[in-house]
Parts: sequence; structure tokens; C-alpha cells
Amino acid sequence: MIEETTTLKASRRQPAGARVGIPPRQMDFHMDATNRYFYDDNATATLFFAMLSSWFPPGERFFMNSVRNYRDLVQDVRLKDQVSGFMGQEAIHGREHDRLNQLLEQRGIDLRFPVAAAKLGLGLLERLPKSTQIAATTFMEHFTALLAEDLLENPEFAEKADPEMIKLWQWHAFEELEHKAVAYDVYELVGNSRIERATAAAAVVVTMVPAVFLSWAWLVAREGKATDIRDIRKGLNLMLGPQGFVTGILPKLPLFLAKHFHPAQHDTSALEAKWAKAMFGDNGFLNTYFKNRSAVMETAVH
Ligand SMILES: [Fe+2]
Ligand SMILES: [Fe+2]
Repeated sequence: MIEETTTLKASRRQPAGARVGIPPRQMDFHMDATNRYFYDDNATATLFFAMLSSWFPPGERFFMNSVRNYRDLVQDVRLKDQVSGFMGQEAIHGREHDRLNQLLEQRGIDLRFPVAAAKLGLGLLERLPKSTQIAATTFMEHFTALLAEDLLENPEFAEKADPEMIKLWQWHAFEELEHKAVAYDVYELVGNSRIERATAAAAVVVTMVPAVFLSWAWLVAREGKATDIRDIRKGLNLMLGPQGFVTGILPKLPLFLAKHFHPAQHDTSALEAKWAKAMFGDNGFLNTYFKNRSAVMETAVH
């Protein structure tokens, strides 16, 4: 009886997403002690990551809203829990990146232009029909999951990044893989038109690619590095060179346009299992930052 009561209490406390492997982990990172140029002591590359960080809170709100529009279509209990997990994870990502963005602003890294550019681009996407908006989300989730895989698979990131700062990015990357199929599975309920997916992907590219280059250049100029050719050349190479962070995922982007595409076809389960153990296992290196670990882990046991 006592055991039953304990189990019941644990299940009441469990976040729904945790039941289906998408737990909303309440994390509290310590970013204050990090270097200003937290990626390879390079301003240009660091500012690329700063731009991404400034885009996550509004971007993730767009993702959540586009899925929320169709939440009522979800009848399957498992998918309902997955949607809860997705919402919870994205909300916490936004919150932690907001904290990082505030720190960057305190350090004089001016994020106003990239934030305005992202909001303008996302505002244009919000004018599309709701089904095209969720299709756009599935494309951006595909892109994010590929970047996440790249970041976790390539040991170079941990070597080049500030050891404290990389933890936030590794956690975010890992959770992007955990929930990578959720928006897509909701879009399946909306009808999943290949033509609409292609249209949405094109709309994302047309609105967001110019925003990337304008925002990045603006950040570099505001940092006083517009004439630091060495820094710029190195940073461009780190992001867009033959072995660059973004370059590696480009060949995999068109997978999204395949007739029978599904995010789970590109299997990352072994990579996820490896990182789950390293981050949140018995001696996981993120356990001290993981505030609701007991609730999530109790869930995992039942
Ligand atoms: Fe996220
Ligand atoms: Fe995501």
C-alpha cells in the first residue's frame, strides 16, 4: 500500500514528456565565468553562436505556437505526451538562452539587430497559412536536429569552446534530438503535403538566410572587428569552411524534401544514448545543473 502510494505520488509529479523520453529538464547553467569569445577565442565564430542564441527565444516561440495551433487534433495518448515534452523543452531552451542573451548584452554584445531581424523574418512566416507555418517548423526542426547532431558528434566543439559555455549548447543539442520528430508527427495529422513542405522550406530560406548574414556582419562590425581580417577569416572557416559547423549539414538538408521523409529515418538513437549517460547518468556531468532530476528520474524508473 505504502509502495502504491509512493508510485502514485511520483506519477502525479511526473512531467508528461518524461513518460515518453522527452522530459522538460529544468536546467540552471552557470554562464557568468565564461570567456567573452567563448568559441576558439574567435570573435567572428562566437558572434555566430551569439546570433543563434538571440534567435532561439523568438524562434522557439514560433515553433511552439505553430504546434499549439493543431494540438486539438492529437488524440493519441503517446503523441499528446510527446507534444507536452516538446513544449516544455522548447520553453526551457528559450528561458536559458534568454539568460545567456542578457549576459551577452551586459558584456556589451548588442543583440538588438539580430533580434529585430529574426522577428521580422518570423513575422513574415506568421503571415502564411497555419498549416504552412507548422510545415516551416518541421523544416527548422530538421535543420536544428542536424546542427545538434553535428555538435554532439564532433569532439572538436568541446575542444574549441569554453568548457562551461559548451554545456548549455550540448544540453540544447541533445534535447533537439530527443524531440526532433514531434512537430513532424503533428504535421502528419494536418495532412503532410510534400508541396507545402517544399514551399515552407523555401520561405524559411528566403526570409532567414539574408537575416543570418546581415545580423552576423552587424554583430562583427559592432564588436569593432570589421577590419580584423584574420579573425573574420578564421571565424568564417570555422562556420562555413570545408569542415565548418554549418557546412557539414548542408548535404543532409534536402532529405527533408523526400516524398516519404520522416525525422526518425535518420537514426540518432545511439548518439542520444551515449550523451544521456554522459550528461544525466549516475555520474552525469550535468546533474548538478539539473534541478528537477529526481522527478524526471523517478519517472524513468516506473
Ligand atoms: Fe530548442
Ligand atoms: Fe526543437
